[in-house]
Amino acid sequence: MTPPTRRETETGTAAQLPEMVEVSTPEGQRLVAQLTDEAERHSRKLLQVRDLSTYFFTPGGVVHAVDEVSFDLDYGETLGLVGESGCGKSVTALSIARLVAQPPGRIVDGEVIFDGIDLLELSGEEMRLLRGRKIGFIFQDPMTSLNPTLRVGHQISESARTHLGLSRQAAAARAVDLLGMVGIPRPRERLGDYPHQFSGGMRQRVMIAIALACQPMLLIADEPTTALDVTVQAQIMELLRSLTQEFRTAVILITHDLGLAAGMCQRVSVMYAGRIVETGLVDDIFERPRMPYTRALLDSRPRLDVEPGGRLRTIEGFPPDLVDPEPVCRFAARCPHRRDVCDQREPLMTPRPSHGQGHAARCWGTEPGGWIP
Ligand SMILES: Nc1ncnc2c1ncn2[C@@H]1O[C@H](COP(=O)(O)OP(=O)(O)O)[C@@H](O)[C@H]1O
Ligand code: SF4
Ligand SMILES: [Mg+2]
Repeated sequence: MTPPTRRETETGTAAQLPEMVEVSTPEGQRLVAQLTDEAERHSRKLLQVRDLSTYFFTPGGVVHAVDEVSFDLDYGETLGLVGESGCGKSVTALSIARLVAQPPGRIVDGEVIFDGIDLLELSGEEMRLLRGRKIGFIFQDPMTSLNPTLRVGHQISESARTHLGLSRQAAAARAVDLLGMVGIPRPRERLGDYPHQFSGGMRQRVMIAIALACQPMLLIADEPTTALDVTVQAQIMELLRSLTQEFRTAVILITHDLGLAAGMCQRVSVMYAGRIVETGLVDDIFERPRMPYTRALLDSRPRLDVEPGGRLRTIEGFPPDLVDPEPVCRFAARCPHRRDVCDQREPLMTPRPSHGQGHAARCWGTEPGGWIP
């Protein structure tokens, strides 16, 4: 019996296979393994972060930078991780990539399952290979991630050579393609330039080229446009959106700007003081925010309809100290809706079934029967 062609098996499941192929042949066994893998992939998430906790052990005490953070990401999905400076966004990203400086930092608990693999169980070398090949990164300041002493062509092709095993010539050709794709004019001529010969926006484009050189399954972009002026910021975001859509790359966009996340992401998770405090589809977060911190973030966004000269509302007060935090609501000191219970027990992330898919928030006042409408 000849093995079915790819087209014949596309709609079948692994369970149906034995009737269709002779599984005792090596070819049949390969097909079963491949289809089982594909079926598993369809039923699982690209990324599952479960109760991730990363602390910094400092002379002043243990800083709970990331505290029992959980979230999922589907294949090809875009998620915004949003919150004020210091709330734990970057440390979450660094923990997923196993790049937290140890000491003083340490992932003390949790799981990070990426494409079925527990990243926290991998060796350093396995993780290094996976980082460039399957997870790409873009950081706020490209000068900290680009090597100032190496030509940009070399930095792009290096990634393709290491991870995809391309020849020197093929990798150089790929570098030209990628530079062109990210909108660098005359890419072939620019291959020999050093990072300082590019403007800030162009350097960020080079970073995007490097991050996407191996067509990773996941791109983590940490404040990718914060250092750029508004016009360039819009161009870079558009570029990121179109390229990740084209490559079907899943994205975690880290930003303090809820508006920026809304423009690019399907879902948003709001972080506050090391915790995720609300998560949901972009429309739910914007139209039906629950947690008072999310509402405050929305109110503090720059708006076009605010009269010129009108004052922007900011969130009063400061986030709490993350050294050994009390088991109470971490937003209580700044919350206009605070009640006694908020200072006695910490609320859990609770699903909001009446709202959209996956909408959940952490707030006593918005629990069913709570006092916040
Ligand atoms: N090396 C470090 N030592 C001690 N504390 C740190 C270190 N790096 C980060 N932190 C603390 O972890 C918390 C989260 O930081 P970070 O993830 O960088 O915030 P964000 O990216 O949201 O601005 C902050 O309170 C910060 O002070
Ligand atoms: S739990 Fe209480 S203090 Fe915390 S956000 Fe909700 S209402 Fe405010
Ligand atoms: Mg950060």
